[in-house]
Amino acid sequence: MKGTIAGRLEASLMRFKRLGLAHLPTPLEPLKRLTEHLRGPSLWVKREDCTGLGLGGNKLRKLDYVLHEALRAGADTLVSGGVVQSNSQRQVAAAAAKLGLACHLAVYHGRLAPPTPDYGRTGNVALNKLFGAVLHDVPWTGDRNQAIRDLADRLAAQGRRPYAVPYGVSSPLGAVAYATTAVEIAQQSAKAGFMPSAIVHCSGSGATQAGLVLGAAACLPQTRVIGIDIDAEPERVAADVVKYGRAAAEILNVPFANEGVEVVAGHAGPAYGVPHAATIEAIKLSARLEGLVLDPVYSGKGMAGLLALIRDGRWSAGDRVVFVHTGGAPALFAYLDALGL
Ligand SMILES: Cc1ncc(COP(=O)(O)O)c(C=O)c1O
Repeated sequence: MKGTIAGRLEASLMRFKRLGLAHLPTPLEPLKRLTEHLRGPSLWVKREDCTGLGLGGNKLRKLDYVLHEALRAGADTLVSGGVVQSNSQRQVAAAAAKLGLACHLAVYHGRLAPPTPDYGRTGNVALNKLFGAVLHDVPWTGDRNQAIRDLADRLAAQGRRPYAVPYGVSSPLGAVAYATTAVEIAQQSAKAGFMPSAIVHCSGSGATQAGLVLGAAACLPQTRVIGIDIDAEPERVAADVVKYGRAAAEILNVPFANEGVEVVAGHAGPAYGVPHAATIEAIKLSARLEGLVLDPVYSGKGMAGLLALIRDGRWSAGDRVVFVHTGGAPALFAYLDALGL
């Protein structure tokens, strides 16, 4: 291992301190009934929804590293933002509670029409309030980070020491953190006796995929990382993956190749946050065959993309494919009408 790119990556990752907020490693489990049903490659799931704190999700792995920086900078307040049912905000709010920090969130309204009357009250919104976060309503302008920066500036002017956590916890350090998921998958799949042909997951603000791409390039060079665009903005998603991936690779002193970035379009439904029939089928199939709880905005669309690729014959029965379940289940409760529940 020493002297290899994988060894270099693992040594570089050890330089970074994390707070230990997330339960790691997350499990890698076979999806036997879904595999049988689809008659395609053997499916496995990496349970990034099981990171623990505040009902878990992929952002906690990033926050574990990013909030170490926040504490080192002497922050007394975390500031972040996202849409009304943002899972990222909820994980920031839970982490703030655990760390004894104040939490202020810029809540973007207008990116999508509320799908149910209690969209603004249930799911992640209720949890944000439960964790003690202060919610600031702001209009969605398309700029994901400006309102977060503005809010941090206002709080600083009031004498607080805010730390701005970017939208989706996507930053070069967020991508560094997420490379650890690929390291875990490499170790866990080797222990289970297989090499994944692909790692498939939903992709939005980019650092999850960026970390997976650079981590897999080092530890699983035969494995393709496939991001399913859930933002209905595949070019922007791919550009952000490259941006964070390159920056993180430089920090970690490992290579990053643009050719490793594959963002698949066509599974985001009509718009961000709006589930379509394929998303709903993916959620119901995963629930009924595996007891796996996906969500209508992120992981359900990721699974819809994976199902479509399998049905299109992308892999054969001898292949192994790992689906990264990035979390998001609390938002399910804001979409019960769409799910017919
Ligand atoms: C449940 C869930 N899955 C996936 C993602 C996408 O991750 P990223 O924004 O790093 O691409 C998010 C981001 O908010 C999320 O909440």
